[in-house]
Amino acid sequence: MKTQYICTNCEYTTSKWMGRCPLCGEWNTLEEREVESAEKPKGAARKVTRTALNSASKSMKIKDITYTDCFRFSTGIGEFDRVLGGGIVEGSVVLLSGEPGIGKSTLLLQICSSIAEGTDILYVSGEESAPQIKHRAERLGVTTESLSILCETNINNITTEIEAIKPKVVIIDSIQTMYDDNLASMPGTVTQVKQSAMCLISIAKTLGTAVIIVGHVNKDGAIAGPKVLEHMVDSVLYFEGNKQHLYRIIRAAKNRFGSTNEIGVFEMGDDGLTEVANPSEALLSQRPHGVSGSCAVCVMEGTRPIIAEIQALVNSSPTPSPRRMASGIDYNRSALLLAVLEKRLGLKFSSLEVYLNVTGGLQLYETASDMPTALALISSLKDTPIPEDLIAFGEIGLAGECRSVTGMELRINEAIRLGFKTIAIPAHSAKTLKKKYSGVEIVPIRGVYDLKGLLGL
Ligand SMILES: Nc1ncnc2c1ncn2[C@@H]1O[C@H](COP(=O)(O)OP(=O)(O)O)[C@@H](O)[C@H]1O
Ligand SMILES: [Mg+2]
Repeated sequence: MKTQYICTNCEYTTSKWMGRCPLCGEWNTLEEREVESAEKPKGAARKVTRTALNSASKSMKIKDITYTDCFRFSTGIGEFDRVLGGGIVEGSVVLLSGEPGIGKSTLLLQICSSIAEGTDILYVSGEESAPQIKHRAERLGVTTESLSILCETNINNITTEIEAIKPKVVIIDSIQTMYDDNLASMPGTVTQVKQSAMCLISIAKTLGTAVIIVGHVNKDGAIAGPKVLEHMVDSVLYFEGNKQHLYRIIRAAKNRFGSTNEIGVFEMGDDGLTEVANPSEALLSQRPHGVSGSCAVCVMEGTRPIIAEIQALVNSSPTPSPRRMASGIDYNRSALLLAVLEKRLGLKFSSLEVYLNVTGGLQLYETASDMPTALALISSLKDTPIPEDLIAFGEIGLAGECRSVTGMELRINEAIRLGFKTIAIPAHSAKTLKKKYSGVEIVPIRGVYDLKGLLGL
């Protein structure tokens, strides 16, 4: 029998013991394990391993395949249902991940309360004691009778309990605390996380139980544990937002049962998370008046346009290398916009400090926010406020030209709904849209050189 050393954290395998795993950098994680000899007798046939799944596998003609529509049920929280694609699918496994303290346990406990009366739910906690959960439930006003709590970390005991009580929904808080006592490694290691997830997935598929798994994220924001966990589950949801911010956003990174670009917006308060059905209004509610550097921006989140506020602060720098900071917007994109404005409009940003911030903790990923960002920068540099009823969207190219973006009409409708009167859009789309909207002024923008005019400069 040969032995090998296997890292319990990342499964790196080596024939020699080392103090530190060269792959994941963890100390003292290499464990000695016996492996079957790789040498095979000459001429031996390759061993084919069969799993339960492929034991009865036979190909079928696509026309012969029948199916029944997957059955969904509502969680009672509209914003959460929206991200899932219209509710939880029976027998599906959802991974909900986010930083500690973002509100995962709070949201899931609230779901236990909002879900239809009489739905059997098993909440398995490996992090908190039953009295702690009871205390939180009382604070959130959760009094669901069909909710059972299990404080356990041994996945085999958990699956036994699930099989015994056959709940409709199982919540696992969190996967990093679960372990299989048949494995030698510590809870939270790749092997344990994978094994626990596999047990839960197989029970979800056999019993038709919907399983929601909480997963922690590591320092880099990725789900702590193997990437393979994301491939194993049906949906991956990320709970985003800054703990200091009021708003929390749930985004689907993967969804086998729906679109991945819907977001759900929540507000964190003393009595838990409340849905923000009208995020634009909420995000604009604290907008300052008559101050330079603030511009309204409209981004598409899935099928929903959301209006937020982008702020710029341009100031003289006390040091020869001025500070640049971008929060809620890609740093490299902001550097590109500064370069375009400097080159095409001759605006001198290079010796100035530049700070950019999207309020409410929203993250802008779309190039449609180029134009409002540029406007906010010019406004702050020139210390000229942007008219409050002006909104702009469009991509800015390296030549300083303004380019069309998708969802123009949806964005314009949302802007009109919120009372914006002047809508600056790429000239290419403006031609046709101008005729369509009569109550508002549609201003065509050909390039960055048109932006100064919007500010009356
Ligand atoms: N007793 C409490 N009173 C008010 N707010 C609380 C209380 N306990 C926790 N919270 C708030 O709820 C937030 C979310 O907590 P929690 O749901 O446990 O997060 P997670 O499960 O994602 O780690 C915390 O950041 C905190 O602000
Ligand atoms: Mg928690």
